[in-house]
Amino acid sequence: MKITVDSRKPADSPADLLAVIVAKITDPKKRLTPRLAAINRALGGGLSDVVTNGDFRGGSAQTLLLYPGSNSLRAKRVLFVGLGDEKENDLNALRVAAGTVSRQASAKKAPKVVLAVPSVKGISAEAMCQALAEGAVLAAYRFDRYREKPKEPERPVETLAISIERAGDLRSARAGARAGVILAESQNIARDLSNEPGNAMTPIALAHAAQKVAKEVGLRVRVMDVPELKRRKMGAILAVGGGSANPPRMIVLEHNAPRGRKKTGKKPPTLCFVGKGITFDSGGISIKPSGGMEEMKHDMSGAATVVGTLRACALLDIPHHVVGVIAAAENMPSGTAYRPGDVVTAMSGKTIEVLNTDAEGRVVLADALHYARKEYSPLAMVDLATLTGACMVALGKWATGLFSNDDDLTERLRRAGEESGERVWPLPLWEDHKKAIRSDVGDIKNTGGREAGASTAAAFLSNFVGDTPWVHLDIAGTGWSGKTSSYQKKGATGVGVRMLLQMLRGWEE
Ligand code: BES
Ligand code: MN
Ligand code: ZN
Repeated sequence: MKITVDSRKPADSPADLLAVIVAKITDPKKRLTPRLAAINRALGGGLSDVVTNGDFRGGSAQTLLLYPGSNSLRAKRVLFVGLGDEKENDLNALRVAAGTVSRQASAKKAPKVVLAVPSVKGISAEAMCQALAEGAVLAAYRFDRYREKPKEPERPVETLAISIERAGDLRSARAGARAGVILAESQNIARDLSNEPGNAMTPIALAHAAQKVAKEVGLRVRVMDVPELKRRKMGAILAVGGGSANPPRMIVLEHNAPRGRKKTGKKPPTLCFVGKGITFDSGGISIKPSGGMEEMKHDMSGAATVVGTLRACALLDIPHHVVGVIAAAENMPSGTAYRPGDVVTAMSGKTIEVLNTDAEGRVVLADALHYARKEYSPLAMVDLATLTGACMVALGKWATGLFSNDDDLTERLRRAGEESGERVWPLPLWEDHKKAIRSDVGDIKNTGGREAGASTAAAFLSNFVGDTPWVHLDIAGTGWSGKTSSYQKKGATGVGVRMLLQMLRGWEE
């Protein structure tokens, strides 16, 4: 989808579909805004008729499709899309509206779309066009590479021309639209990676996918194979990956990697993102029940988000040194699998007593977090993981669980989540949770029992971050969606890309 921004009069632009975003109409007798009035005139009064009848009020996600007939409007169809109440007029309402336009246009096989938008109080043209581009591109996402023919007959939108009211805003609006496209496309790449089935998306395939993205956008990439993992004494990821015929990998992506050993010049601050990359989680010897097990192909959603995030960092030229570390492994039962009762030594030297091989995410992250901290001494570290069913029970699909040792970083992510429409919610991480995972035979055990399962998992991870400011994001509930709605497709969500970039773009020390 190609997205452009102009300030032409929407009624004069030829299009297969003219979409018009309409703020809530509180009084049907009040005059239409000048822009809506012009479209209404070109339609021969089609809009005002519907409005005075009370049939269209611009409510959230309300739509109205009209055909101009012989009137002077140059588009084949007009779709009015409601934006809802002013208090609902946040950026997410714009994403939802643009998502609705994008979906309806492709269902109507209308490849050329003009999107007329009003000025919204409190929202800059730049932020508005970013949100619109995000919603449109995210809603157009399909995962149909395994189908002979697409499921629903439709035609993707080819061009979306956003028409804003004020010509003076064009520069910033165009910058916003460009950023929105990059963010949404990066999120779609993350969705693609997590939607891939386990037989295709092995740890090695994930490494290849990361290498491909790195090459396309100019990231440094390094992949550690099993001999290297052994040399580096990464006993935790080796234990989890040991049960599978598909060997584990540690993958490192770097944006703005410092070149050579130059001693002069100020080094930009380093931020690390760490992703859980379990390409399939059968539970291992502590095998999962078979019902719903297929969903565990998306247990590398944290890793997918890290790949998407690093891609966006490169394309948006983020002025920091950003590092992505991905712990990729497949958790399978076999004669070489790790067992309940095993004690494994992580790279940090800490020993982990394995009580349940299905609590494998925290085990692979132990090595990834330690490696990130030791190798890069980052200013801050954020990990993303489909870590616990407990977090999914606590927050559902409505928020990502946040656990942290640092209030400032927590606040940055909480705000970024709000602004990007990817909500995060803080959950506790107390000394009690750390006590709950003390082991009788080793340093720590990999489960703390049923109580506060998301917090004890976070407590486990906290053993490997030292005093680096760190946030753990549990995306078990937000990484996968059971149904399609507005700009969300059923399946992998690619959650986190927009939020992390929002944080990075607003980062000032
Ligand atoms: N990958 C799962 C968590 C998960 C469950 C993610 C559902 C998304 C949807 C994780 O590896 C796991 O199995 N966790 C166990 C931990 C338990 C054994 C301590 C869980 O949550 O049941
Ligand atoms: Mn598991
Ligand atoms: Zn898992």
